[in-house]
Amino acid sequence: MKLPPTCRRLQVLAAALGVCVTVGFVVQFLVGPFQRRPPTAPAARPPQPCRPRTHLVFLKTHKTGSSSVVNLLHRFGEAHGLRFALPHRYQFGYPSPFQASRVKGYRPGGPPFDILCHHMRFNLPEVQKVMPNDTFYFSIVRDPGTLGESAFAYYRAIAPAFRRAPSLGAFLASPGRFYEPGARGNHYARNLLWFDFGLPSAPGDAGAVAAAVAGVERAFALVLLAEHFDESLVLLRDALCWAEDDVAAFAHNGRRAPATLSAAQAARLRAWNALDWALYAHLNRSFWRRAEAFGAARLRDEVRRLRERRDALARRCLRGGGPVAAGAIADGRLRPFQPPGRAEILGYALRAGLPPAERERCARLATPELQYKDILDRRQFGTGGNGTAPPGA
Ligand SMILES: *[C@@H]1O[C@H](CO)[C@@H](O)[C@H](O)[C@H]1NC(C)=O
Ligand SMILES: *[C@@H]1O[C@H](CO)[C@@H](O)[C@H](O)[C@H]1NC(C)=O
Ligand SMILES: *[C@@H]1O[C@H](CO)[C@@H](O)[C@H](O)[C@H]1NC(C)=O
Repeated sequence: MKLPPTCRRLQVLAAALGVCVTVGFVVQFLVGPFQRRPPTAPAARPPQPCRPRTHLVFLKTHKTGSSSVVNLLHRFGEAHGLRFALPHRYQFGYPSPFQASRVKGYRPGGPPFDILCHHMRFNLPEVQKVMPNDTFYFSIVRDPGTLGESAFAYYRAIAPAFRRAPSLGAFLASPGRFYEPGARGNHYARNLLWFDFGLPSAPGDAGAVAAAVAGVERAFALVLLAEHFDESLVLLRDALCWAEDDVAAFAHNGRRAPATLSAAQAARLRAWNALDWALYAHLNRSFWRRAEAFGAARLRDEVRRLRERRDALARRCLRGGGPVAAGAIADGRLRPFQPPGRAEILGYALRAGLPPAERERCARLATPELQYKDILDRRQFGTGGNGTAPPGA
C-alpha cells in the first residue's frame, strides 16, 4: 500500500519501530470571497495585512491525527495567555452531544473563551454559547478506508461490534453479523466521523446526506485531511495568519506498527462507513480547491520548510530523534495514555542535558494531550489533575 507522505516521513523518523502514525486532517467551509486570494492581484498592491486569529474551535475527531493539532493549539494558547474552554475531566460528555454546561467555569453571560479543542460530539448552538461570534471553526477528517482499521485496533475493548469479531478480516467480511445499531460504544464501529460532527444518525436519502454535508461546510471554515497532514498545517497557518513555527508539531498518539490493509479491505471499510465516505469525499474536494487557490508551488515550499523545522526540533529535543514506546519514557508527564487493548501508543523522551529554557520548550512539544490539559487546567483554575497519571479518557 502506498503510504501518504506524512506516514513515510514518520517511518523514517521511527524506522526502528516501524511506526506510522494515525494521522488525519483539513477542510474548507467558508468558500467566501474573503477566504480566497484573487488569482490575479494587481502586482503593485502589497499583501493584505492580517491579524492572527485567537478565537478557535477545533472539532477533535477520533483516529485522524487530531492529537497533534491539539498539541499546537495548547502551545499557542499557553504562549499567548489565551483562555481554554476545558472539560471537567478530559472530554465534554462524549458521546453525548456537547453542552455549554460541560465547560469548566462557564456561566451564561460570562466572559467567552478563546480556544475549544477537546473531544466532543459537535453541537453548534451549544458551542456558540461558549465561544465569541468571530470564532474560526475547523476540524480534520480521514479516509474511512484506513480510519476504520485504526478504530478497530484502538476501540476493540470498547465497541461491542469490534469485540465480538475475532479479527478485522472477519469483521470486514460481514460487519452486520457483529454490529447492533445503537448499542453502547458501537458509534466507534460505524461512521465515526459522521457521529463526531453531530450529524443525524439515519439520514433518509441522498438529499438528507447532501444537506448534512453542506451544513458542515457552512459551520467549518476549514477541514484538514489526515492523509495530507503537512499541507493541512500550511493551509491552517495561512487561514489563521499564524507564523510558520506555530504549526511545527510532533505527531502525537501514533501507534506502533499499524496494520496495512488490502485495497479490497479498504473498499469494504468505505462501503460500511458510507456516510463517512460521503463526508470525506466532499471535504477532500474542498480541501484541494483551497490548496489550488493557495498555490501549488507555494504550498510545496512551505511544506518543505515545515518538515525541515520539525526534523530540526526532533534532532534537538528528542532522545533517538523520534517516537519511542511508552515503557521507555521514564518521565510520567511525557508518557502517553495507553488505551485498554492491544494498540500501543508511542510518545517522546527528551534528550539528556538540554539547557533549562530549551528543555521546557521541548517538553511542551512532547507533552501528551491529557497531561497538557492538566497543565492548562492548573494555569486557569489552580486545580485539575497532577499531570502524572491520566485516568482513562
Ligand atoms: C459579536 O460580538 C461582539 C462582542 O460581543 C458584538 O459587539 C457584535 O455586535 C457581535 N456581532 C454579531 C454579528 O453578532
Ligand atoms: C481528493 O481530491 C483530489 C482532487 O480533486 C482527487 O484527485 C482525489 O482522488 C480525491 N481523493 C479521494 C479519496 O476522493
Ligand atoms: C496523581 O493523581 C493520580 C490520580 O489522578 C494518583 O493516582 C497519583 O498518585 C497522583 N500522583 C502524584 C505524584 O501525586
